[in-house]
Amino acid sequence: MEIVESSEQLSGIINNVKAQGKTVGFVPTMGALHQGHISLVNKAAETCDFVLVSVFVNPTQFNNPDDLERYPRDLAKDLHLLKDTGCELVFAPTVKEIYPKPDTRIFDFGNLDKVMEGEHRPGHFNGVAQVVSRLFDITQPDYAFFGEKDFQQLAVIRAMVRQENFDVKIVPCPTIREEDGLAMSSRNLLLTPQQRKKAPIIARTLFESCNFVNAKSIDKTIEYVINSINREEELKVEYFEIADADTLLPIKNWKESEHIVGCIAVFAGEIRLIDNVIYKKG
Ligand code: PAJ
Repeated sequence: MEIVESSEQLSGIINNVKAQGKTVGFVPTMGALHQGHISLVNKAAETCDFVLVSVFVNPTQFNNPDDLERYPRDLAKDLHLLKDTGCELVFAPTVKEIYPKPDTRIFDFGNLDKVMEGEHRPGHFNGVAQVVSRLFDITQPDYAFFGEKDFQQLAVIRAMVRQENFDVKIVPCPTIREEDGLAMSSRNLLLTPQQRKKAPIIARTLFESCNFVNAKSIDKTIEYVINSINREEELKVEYFEIADADTLLPIKNWKESEHIVGCIAVFAGEIRLIDNVIYKKG
């Protein structure tokens, strides 16, 4: 497994791989890797001839400087985890390498980046689009792998690929959970033992609410989810929305769409956790 910091060196390696007729699979990450990330790498290894993982904590997608500051970083541990996967190349650039000058591009994804995470983390998806488009330019992948854990991010990336005419196939990968149901996240490392103990209530409540489809109203479902989680002293729901899973527009009635998602953000103390559940598969 090779580790490179320079985009030029990376492009050289990728050009070589492509010249051999091999397909390139790319898994962008911000490091602090866990089995959720590894599932993406495994899927990439199944799908492509050559797998490349990037580890880069992208400053432009953090709307909160404290969040950027405390984001866990441990490249040595990440490399250790990647060693036993099909990953052949790790791109771990510096901020200067990705942004030789400030990226001033403003993307417009219509509704997709305005609701939910977009509403509560202004500028977040613009930063995600900046870094992912920059990484796609450098790495020239045939396939790129993203987790459904970040459901809205996946929708934004798909829109970005269409808008920017990238010739990259976006492959969605299912959310990997801890045994107690908590969606794996680098941020879970920051939870206190008490918060960690309560955090699985988020997923448990989302799964319970699947029984409400067609049986209770959307409003009642939303009320149930928010109240059940807020009952716990350690947890505070920032938002919970039930939306059409393609447009992310809120729906008022279960019959309004055949593809429905519920997306949630919850504060456990200072730590913000997100999760989602598919109510109707479409
Ligand atoms: P990061 O949070 O490191 O996640 C990298 C990829 O792993 C994303 O596609 C994310 O959806 C996926 N992932 C995280 N936890 C997962 C889980 N429990 N199950 C399945 N997949 C999971 O998302 C980002 O980084 C950044 O925004 C990035 C796209 C790299 C741009 O900076």
